[in-house]
Amino acid sequence: MKLLVTGTDGYIGSLLATELMNSGHEVTGLDTGFYLDGLLYDDLRPPAQRIPKDTRRVVPADLRGYDAVVHLAELSNDPLCQHDPQLTYEINHQGSVALARNSREAGVPRFVYASSCSVYGLAADENVTETSRVNPQTAYAECKALVERDVTALANDHFSPTFLRNATAFGASPRMRFDIVLNNLAGLAWTTKEIKMISDGTPWRPLVHVLDICDAIACSLSAPREAVHNQVFNVGDNAQNYRVREIAEIVAEVFPGCRLSFGANMGDQRSYRVNFDKINSRLPGFRCRRDARFGARELRTLFEKIQMTRETFEFRAFTRLKQLEHLLRTQQVDEHFFWRG
Ligand SMILES: NC(=O)c1ccc[n+]([C@@H]2O[C@H](COP(=O)([O-])OP(=O)(O)OC[C@H]3O[C@@H](n4cnc5c(N)ncnc54)[C@H](O)[C@@H]3O)[C@@H](O)[C@H]2O)c1
Repeated sequence: MKLLVTGTDGYIGSLLATELMNSGHEVTGLDTGFYLDGLLYDDLRPPAQRIPKDTRRVVPADLRGYDAVVHLAELSNDPLCQHDPQLTYEINHQGSVALARNSREAGVPRFVYASSCSVYGLAADENVTETSRVNPQTAYAECKALVERDVTALANDHFSPTFLRNATAFGASPRMRFDIVLNNLAGLAWTTKEIKMISDGTPWRPLVHVLDICDAIACSLSAPREAVHNQVFNVGDNAQNYRVREIAEIVAEVFPGCRLSFGANMGDQRSYRVNFDKINSRLPGFRCRRDARFGARELRTLFEKIQMTRETFEFRAFTRLKQLEHLLRTQQVDEHFFWRG
């Protein structure tokens, strides 16, 4: 297939582009390049064509001739979005809906959107499914829910959107993120030999390996249209609903000599588990192949190989909010996160 993938300079997108090209797809990447300063290791196979562009400036002419658009390029976590909720709506909600609308206008038949399990927020239900009520608690999650609502309304006989509600990712990527839970704990275990949790770590946190997210996207693209047309899938595995405490224990076991301590029960920290039956039964070819222990071991091997330092672990580009604050402070981007000059 001829694919346009947005966010190909990011944590998931850099691996996804490589995986899709290795499967024989023709990939064009589109990314504004906020995090290009950070490369943890280099085994990337960049797309033959890369469009350095903001999604908010994409027009239908940019999208003509593709068989599918895979859309990842957004501000990618809660702290980043709480920093400036208005801008989050501009990029994550309006930018993404405009991209979908332009894709439809350009005659692109499929649109795969990287949504998030965070749309469930504080769920009343103990075991949330795709039909459970969404209850987003942050600007980031609210935008994911709004994009789903607005892009669903665009579906027709010629335009099939698919919404992948990813669990929290983990695992190695050249465009690393150390601001997501397992990667962060692994980095702490390696650089300080200590994981000190403020809470008792009881809340549940569904996790999914970054390459399993890539597989879910690849399966959505190759699935028959009727299997994915206007469908929502939680992306993960029932066995990978962890308590934060368990994630810390797994990491501490895999990184020898790592001390682990927990804080007090923080009271009413409601949490939920996500049900992943639908993707495992209805998305042809998909299953999660890598668990948290696999991810922790993979990171330990990587840190050994590159002899990761504390300075690298704490480098701004591997923590999305730090990097954007740096770009603002040094006036490389304006207050709307457009590059200056
Ligand atoms: N990583 C996770 O745990 C996770 C979980 C659920 C959903 N997701 C979603 O998956 C997608 C990718 O996540 P990630 O972890 O790879 O994030 P990331 O921050 O590493 O990558 C996002 C990429 O998008 C680009 N980008 C951001 N805004 C842009 C814009 N306006 N125009 C063009 N490019 C822009 C950035 O430069 C970056 O390269 C995001 O939409 C995120 O919300 C991620």
